Amino acid sequence: MSRGDHNWNSKFVLLNGLKSDSGKFSSSCKGVHVGKRHMWFHKNVRSIAYIFVLVGFFFLLDSLMVSIFDSINLQHSSTSKNSKGLKDDGKVAHTNKEKPPVKMYGRLLSLASSALTEKEFKPKKSDLWKEPYKQASSWKPCADRRPPNPGKHDKSNGYIMVSANGGLNQQRVAICNAVAVASLLNATLLLPRFLYSNVWKDPSQFGDIYQEEYFISVLKHEVNIVKELPPRLKSIDIEAIGSLITDADIAKEAKPIDYVRKVLPILLRNGVVHFLGYGNRLGFDPLPSKLQRLRCKCNFHALKFAPKIQEAASLLVRRIRKHDSARSMLDKQLLGNYMPNIPSRHHEVARGSYRYLALHLRFEEDMVAYSQCDFGGGESERKELQSYREIHFPLLIERLKSSKPISPEELRKLGRCPLTPEEAALLLSALGFKHGTYIYLAGSQIYGANSRMQAFTSLYPNLVTKETLLTPSELEPFRNFSSQLAALDFIACATADVFAMTDSGSQLSSLVSGFRTYYGNGQAPTLRPNKKRLATILSENSTIRWNDFEDRVRKMIEEGQRVRVRGFGRSIYRQPRSPECMCRT
Ligand SMILES: *[C@@H]1O[C@H](CO)[C@@H](O)[C@H](O)[C@H]1NC(C)=O
Ligand SMILES: *[C@@H]1O[C@H](CO)[C@@H](O)[C@H](O)[C@H]1NC(C)=O
Ligand SMILES: *[C@@H]1O[C@H](CO)[C@@H](O)[C@H](O)[C@H]1NC(C)=O
Repeated sequence: MSRGDHNWNSKFVLLNGLKSDSGKFSSSCKGVHVGKRHMWFHKNVRSIAYIFVLVGFFFLLDSLMVSIFDSINLQHSSTSKNSKGLKDDGKVAHTNKEKPPVKMYGRLLSLASSALTEKEFKPKKSDLWKEPYKQASSWKPCADRRPPNPGKHDKSNGYIMVSANGGLNQQRVAICNAVAVASLLNATLLLPRFLYSNVWKDPSQFGDIYQEEYFISVLKHEVNIVKELPPRLKSIDIEAIGSLITDADIAKEAKPIDYVRKVLPILLRNGVVHFLGYGNRLGFDPLPSKLQRLRCKCNFHALKFAPKIQEAASLLVRRIRKHDSARSMLDKQLLGNYMPNIPSRHHEVARGSYRYLALHLRFEEDMVAYSQCDFGGGESERKELQSYREIHFPLLIERLKSSKPISPEELRKLGRCPLTPEEAALLLSALGFKHGTYIYLAGSQIYGANSRMQAFTSLYPNLVTKETLLTPSELEPFRNFSSQLAALDFIACATADVFAMTDSGSQLSSLVSGFRTYYGNGQAPTLRPNKKRLATILSENSTIRWNDFEDRVRKMIEEGQRVRVRGFGRSIYRQPRSPECMCRT
């Protein structure tokens, strides 16, 4: 399928070329003198008819191909979920009703389309695929250095159990926070468990997603991790003895002192505590650097995906690149031995393989409905999103009743609206990505399906997803496991030549960009639009010149790629450029 895409694409370009030629033809006709027109028409009636048939045929073929692309890209069944919060990680509810295409920026889209056509013939040299700032490569991974004083206490204060909620990426954060807390409290950590949720419907446990032994051994100098509780604690009713600690007991982003005051006494008294839920329960600053480093080591070194996931992900990546060997440290870290490491010189590697951009398009129904923005779909869309909110976000509805309403226009100005596929495509074209660019779409259950994706695929038809790259039988072992599917997206995004996100608040996007910073050696660019700035630029959609649009988008993206040290309170998983995590050379 993916091989086919490439040929289709060149046809697509050809067709667009022909279409604009036919436009020229008709305008030159207008110049013919009226008096002569009759005779001229008689003479040429056959060729005119012929041209009309030909043009008609091309239009038909064109729309046929658009619909083929769309059905490939969006072949998902409709599911409805009972969600309590925003889901992130790539698996989301989806409605697949056929609707007419929705476009908000007709003018910019056609400017983008001509700009892309022009690029096919006059390729400009550009550095889209590179990091713009050289300093990026002066930061190297170093959280796995043996600390001079590992600080593992011989005597354990007791056992910490964790049942992490949420999807793959939220769980990852919870695991590494738990590792840090276990070290803080001189406790022994029981291998984390994952809660089954009605949203995710995924029964996967730690060992289905990560390599257990590896995790235990990488952290063994810092934290004791065991697979089972000792027999004397196994039969204890944790809740009855007061050792159950829920998110209501511990503040969001709590400080170490909160743990020492609240949790340590229970641990010392009962020998065990159980964190239930446990999302973002440990803040980033202030935190002793030993613990910060440990979190970083956990996230970037200790959590290796299970072989089954690495194997399928390496198939994915190899099929997009049409290349079989590892190219970077990111490949090696994420795909392990499933990506053979054939030593070869740089230019040889580049010649044999295809580049791709991975896009995490966070425009799924939950996100769209939650935002309360207007996406140009008119009354029917407003009603649909309102009823989605009523079913899935009762708390939000309650809150809205008692607060002052913010208009959709205001929300857009404030940068609170998720980017539509159309906006994402405009962004990529302003940055100069060509029509034929290979794009791996993560998540991919887009709200409005074809009606929304059409604007995107008209500019970028070479879209692939895990569903198009893997055969049904290759996907089968993952089908009921949303976290494992999300892990495939995680890897395909992290190892991409360029990663583009549409929402920097998303866990998947932020963890992936952290990985690219940590292991990318300054050569793994991430595109992170600033939604507020973009909204300002797009508010001029009906007047802005294409060149100005390009300039302003490029500046915005470059701003997001500046090489900065992690700011106070910022996530070390997302921004590992921090002395506890990376070393500056
Ligand atoms: C943990 O052990 C270290 C010594 O290794 C000690 O300084 C620290 O106070 C202990 N912390 C707790 C909470 O027991
Ligand atoms: C997935 O779930 C469906 C229905 O619940 C079941 O029929 C199918 O066998 C499951 N597939 C796997 C691979 O577990
Ligand atoms: C596009 O431009 C029109 C006319 O200036 C404006 O009214 C509209 O709000 C703009 N659209 C967006 C989404 O900013």
